[in-house]
Amino acid sequence: MKLILVLYLSSLLGTSIAYDCAYCQPEQVHIAFGEKTNDIVVTWSTFNDTKETRVQYGKNVMDTEARGYSTLFVDGGPRKHSQYIHRVTLRDLEYDTEYVYHAGSVYGWSEQFNFKTPPAGEDWVVRAAIYGDMGNKNAHSLSYLQDEAQRHKFDLILHVGDFAYDMDTDDAAVGDQFMRQIQPLAAAVPYMTCVGNHEEKYNFSNYKNRFSMPGPQQSMFYSFDIGPIHFVSISTEYYYFINYGIHMLMNQYDWLVDDLTKATQRENREKRPWIIIYGHRPMYCANDEAECRNQRIPVRTGVPFIGFVVAAWAAGVEVRCRLRRTTHLYASAAARPRTMIY
Ligand SMILES: *[C@@H]1O[C@H](CO)[C@@H](O)[C@H](O)[C@H]1NC(C)=O
Ligand SMILES: *[C@@H]1O[C@H](CO)[C@@H](O)[C@H](O)[C@H]1NC(C)=O
Ligand SMILES: [Fe+2]
Repeated sequence: MKLILVLYLSSLLGTSIAYDCAYCQPEQVHIAFGEKTNDIVVTWSTFNDTKETRVQYGKNVMDTEARGYSTLFVDGGPRKHSQYIHRVTLRDLEYDTEYVYHAGSVYGWSEQFNFKTPPAGEDWVVRAAIYGDMGNKNAHSLSYLQDEAQRHKFDLILHVGDFAYDMDTDDAAVGDQFMRQIQPLAAAVPYMTCVGNHEEKYNFSNYKNRFSMPGPQQSMFYSFDIGPIHFVSISTEYYYFINYGIHMLMNQYDWLVDDLTKATQRENREKRPWIIIYGHRPMYCANDEAECRNQRIPVRTGVPFIGFVVAAWAAGVEVRCRLRRTTHLYASAAARPRTMIY
């Protein structure tokens, strides 16, 4: 037995000597819900190719392993800063259960993290931390979020657009730093996102590559069910950056009509009476500045000459009413300042 173990170790050592993987230490670890809330997607970065992508996990000890894949992400800046983004889905976990895990490869493992899956079913109170507009500097709420996330005081986090200021700045070094900074909370609690105007550079490439949300990879809209809530994340930016292609706005519109039609079917509505849509730019303003008034119009009424209105109205969902009542969640809902910042 001992002999076999020694042989095994030396064969592992053999491969690591043959391939010099200098920058293969995992960093920027974060998690998100997959297609259901008991599927957890673990995402992280390495700067060189580790040739394999693994997560070891379990309830008290890491006795199970899942494998995934990596993609090469090259930032659009002059230095063409590149990194490998790794993704592994941990499927069919037990509900309401704490898991420990680490992520990496034979060339390097992250430290050990833990998360807790949410309860099953609909009849429980969802606890969410909801905020947008958080950068590397001046992130006053970060330490509180890190602390409470590690005590599992939230079932999920929603970061509603604008990250890092900006993720592409300094050839994406600012994005890397931001992802390291949120790791203490984002590796512990599903970190669900939507895109903001500050992610626009290079066709939203930093946003699309760094996060792993439900639905097709790199999509900027998705929905998921948790407890009594159907959450819908949309890109309001499609209404403003139409230079990247009007077809994305149209795809999102069709998808949204379809999604809300299903969510409002009687049996779904009875199970999940809450439908909460989040996007970076609000449809309404609390003040009356000209900029505020003009900026909101496309989100509310659509883009002129194309004639798309936000599908929520088409499906008859009371968006404003629902959004205003998010305070019924256990939420550190960030109050928007009187003057809009974007
Ligand atoms: C390995 O990572 C370093 C540091 O980011 C980078 O300079 C180098 O180009 C990478 N090499 C390969 C082959 O990816
Ligand atoms: C931007 O990316 C989307 C996919 O996310 C693609 O469909 C679209 O064509 C791209 N736009 C441009 C101008 O490259
Ligand atoms: Fe913004």
